[in-house]
Amino acid sequence: MAEGHWSAKHLLGIAELEANDITSILDTAESFREVASRPIKKVPTLRGKTVLNVFFESSTRTRSSFEIAEKRMSADAINFSTSTSSLSKGESMLDTARNLEAMAPDVLVIRHPHPRVPHQLAGLIDSSIVNAGDGAHEHPTQALLDAFTIRRHKGTLEGLRVAIVGDIEHSRVVRSNVLLLRKMGASVVVAGPRTMMPRHAEALGAEVAYRVEDALEGADVVMMLRIQLERQGNSGSQLLLPSTDEYFHLFGLSAERLALAKDDAIVLHPGPMNRGVEITSEVADGARSVILEQVANGLAVRMAVLYLLAGVA
Ligand code: CP
Repeated sequence: MAEGHWSAKHLLGIAELEANDITSILDTAESFREVASRPIKKVPTLRGKTVLNVFFESSTRTRSSFEIAEKRMSADAINFSTSTSSLSKGESMLDTARNLEAMAPDVLVIRHPHPRVPHQLAGLIDSSIVNAGDGAHEHPTQALLDAFTIRRHKGTLEGLRVAIVGDIEHSRVVRSNVLLLRKMGASVVVAGPRTMMPRHAEALGAEVAYRVEDALEGADVVMMLRIQLERQGNSGSQLLLPSTDEYFHLFGLSAERLALAKDDAIVLHPGPMNRGVEITSEVADGARSVILEQVANGLAVRMAVLYLLAGVA
């Protein structure tokens, strides 16, 4: 199987990775990609290893992608969610973590609504920790699979112009993507309503636009984001967003707007997608959409991450 050079105990965020680490993970993912096309989609890479998938927030893509990746690598995969755990009976997060640790998993994949919970766990327990999304902070495997998808289409990330449009303030996907793309030599422009833009948006390391047209002009890659109503808290969606119709009118990606980007621009969306709010079905299902490729590539990227963390002695 692939030879990667990234050597770390945890994957907590893109912030902790160097450009050559990212290249190693993407190169390793290339060699796992063909496993999905085999009649028997299984390799022995993680035989005898136990991976716990601990999700304190709902997930369709990330959770099933990690579980399938683990099973395809012959690991013992165990799923754990808040609704079925003793957290609902008042057990603290720390006690829960210590009890999970007592079962000696090799890797703990965690999604949590609060930023930096994976980082705190990494200091408390011995298992390797993979951040599957921590609040509005980071979603490193999403950024890696996005980069993998872009690189497969464009050959490189260096020199590309990537437009990211949507709820910038509440998105962990945008943070991880801007960090990764800047490290790899791409330029990034973020666009969204002022009410969904962080106060110091430039500090993300991206150009900031308040008109979607300004962001799309000349873009090689267009990444649309969902409005993260679940993270808008007390600010309330009513205040941030007059109506989904108005949002679509101002920021939604239609075929007409996509024409502002380069002729060979590709369209990404991390999902879940709200058709008719941030993107039309015509674009989401069109020839330039790579949205389902992102999902397929997520398996190869997560196999690579698990292999590099736990599969190499
Ligand atoms: N992209 C993503 O994280 O999707 P899920 O919330 O379904 O895992």
